[in-house]
Amino acid sequence: MTQAPKQGGYAAEYRRSLEDPEGFWLDAARAIDWTVAPTRALDASEAPLYRWFPDGRLNTCHNALDRHIDAGRGEQLALVYDSPVAGREAAFTYRELRDEVARFAGVLTGLGVAQGDRVVIYMPMIPEAVVAMLACARIGAVHSVVFGGFAAHELAVRIDDARPKVVIAASCGIEPARVVPYKPLLDDALALAEHQPERCVIRQRPQCTADMTGRDLDWDQAMETAEPVGCVPVAATDPLYILYTSGTTGRPKGVVRDNGGHAVALRWSLENVYDTHPGEVFWAASDVGWVVGHSYIVYAPLLTGCTTVLYEGKPVGTPDAGALWRVIAEHRVTALFTAPTAIRAVKKEDPRGELLHAHDIGSLRHLFLAGERLDPETYRWATDLLGVPVVDNWWQTETGWPIVANPMGLEPHPLKAGSPTVPMPGYDVRILDATGRDAPPGADGAVAIRLPLPPGTLLTVWQDDARYVRSYLSAYSGYYLTGDGGRKDDDGYVYVMGRIDDVINVAGHRLSTGAMEEVLAAHPDVAECAVVGVADPLKGQVPRGLVVLKAGLDRDPQDIATELVAAVRETIGPVAALRRVDVVAALPKTRSGKILRRTMRDIADGRDTELPSTIDDPAVIEALRPVLRDDV
Ligand code: COA
Ligand code: AMP
Repeated sequence: MTQAPKQGGYAAEYRRSLEDPEGFWLDAARAIDWTVAPTRALDASEAPLYRWFPDGRLNTCHNALDRHIDAGRGEQLALVYDSPVAGREAAFTYRELRDEVARFAGVLTGLGVAQGDRVVIYMPMIPEAVVAMLACARIGAVHSVVFGGFAAHELAVRIDDARPKVVIAASCGIEPARVVPYKPLLDDALALAEHQPERCVIRQRPQCTADMTGRDLDWDQAMETAEPVGCVPVAATDPLYILYTSGTTGRPKGVVRDNGGHAVALRWSLENVYDTHPGEVFWAASDVGWVVGHSYIVYAPLLTGCTTVLYEGKPVGTPDAGALWRVIAEHRVTALFTAPTAIRAVKKEDPRGELLHAHDIGSLRHLFLAGERLDPETYRWATDLLGVPVVDNWWQTETGWPIVANPMGLEPHPLKAGSPTVPMPGYDVRILDATGRDAPPGADGAVAIRLPLPPGTLLTVWQDDARYVRSYLSAYSGYYLTGDGGRKDDDGYVYVMGRIDDVINVAGHRLSTGAMEEVLAAHPDVAECAVVGVADPLKGQVPRGLVVLKAGLDRDPQDIATELVAAVRETIGPVAALRRVDVVAALPKTRSGKILRRTMRDIADGRDTELPSTIDDPAVIEALRPVLRDDV
């Protein structure tokens, strides 16, 4: 099989990607099977909206499955499903997975789903979720996977935005402590949504069987009668999926990914960044509802001809505290990719790493960590325990693959704790000061990327180019704003310190404080509110709510706080993890009335920040100090 081409070392490749993007990306595109090979890489005719490989045609599912069978990998394992919570393991060869996918693609076409139609997938970590995604790709339909930890309201918002023809769901998910019935959540979402899909396909699970209504179709029954269908070639620039992500407001942004640029970039990244090659076993311990799941559970390993591990459950804790090591040993995993929070959870339960000794994890060559800042303490603990490189990489839903990483397959760089290392090809990463000029080495600023972004990154926000430009491209002309703050050192290593907007990262899950504030503000007793992300030793950050109640209420404030915690869980979902709301007398503001969220966060985190000169009434923040610091 064609390998992703490799020429010079990192410096030469990186320079070439910026100076000769046509040559660099057309070379990388040779690792993909095209029905019409592209003759051009970048189309800048509608800048700042860029397209990649404008005259190429391909099918992503063909590249993920069929081509490997044609090349003799039909009997190799494509997907290993390991579910301690369901007490089940299963494995699919490339041929078996292709057959399932082709048949489910037949189910979808039978329901009238055609190229360009949207399909929402609301499923736990079961093989059918991967089958559904790839079946959409096979027929050129656009999938939109919604994370199972989101509640009905969030699902409804996404259904109304994506306007799917069909929704695919399972009867339930399984969390270590409870079975989560998904079908009632879907029914509630459809009662809330304005848009109605024509049909819902439901995968029944034995842990909790769903009640079916007129538009529901049983997955197994539908599969029994469906005919397999082949791959539909699409334009490289056609959308493959929409993935909603949290922004600063309550309305999530539908990140749109293309087919061609995505396949080329992910294929390049798996070998050059993650040093993982055809036939090897890659395990991304994340969820298909997040971008890490899209890129590194499903697409990149399968595009590369690897075996991917689909793990259902927490990789730590109940029912098996040593699950992380057991899975590596049992499936001969060569690269593990997860979030630092998972490693902190392992460390908390087993500080001396004793559970590791029961397992032979000799197959493991690298541990990759992303999703939140890798704190130096976690980095050192994992490095000492595992004796393999622990590799930080920084990126986001919008980019789909690493912006800054250590290119372990191309040219490993010395690791520096606290830095995800250097920019990847095509990403011209800059640190900008408040005036939009390049900040000197060592100085903090906004992390921005000079346009164009490389292949595989977002095309736009679903059906809203203006929002894409407004949200990402308007702060500094000619740049994409990442929303993160950071700096570079003298060697060009990038340090990413955290969000400079109202997005927070809770246990590696990206959430919007704005969305939580909307829920709090909707309570009839709340006059005003703020949600801030404060440091947490396990989850990195957790949200905390502060509310001011309307005057003259005759209710116990604690009861209202309890209702508010429940409302966030009900509306956004348990994954929001808002456990604490304090009722306070007033919120600190600037003279122009802006709530000083950053100041509150700094105080809660124990940082001695100077109060901003624009503060309206310093007495308000002084009164809040003990609440924020937990000294009450
Ligand atoms: N469906 C339903 N509920 C879900 C869910 C899902 N798919 N995912 C999470 N939840 C629920 C959890 O059960 C929990 O509910 P609870 O409040 O009743 O306990 C809540 O949402 C918060 O979940 P989480 O943030 O995952 O916290 P946790 O304490 O259950 O687990 C970790 C913490 C660190 C073990 C866990 O987050 C983890 O393994 N993370 C790995 C990394 C990862 O997935 N990163 C994503 C991007 S790489
Ligand atoms: P998501 O879109 O869910 O992948 O979240 C992206 C955000 O997570 C980024 O904008 C960062 O704030 C944070 N993030 C992801 N990876 C890292 C990392 N390696 N270091 C620091 N922050 C990270």
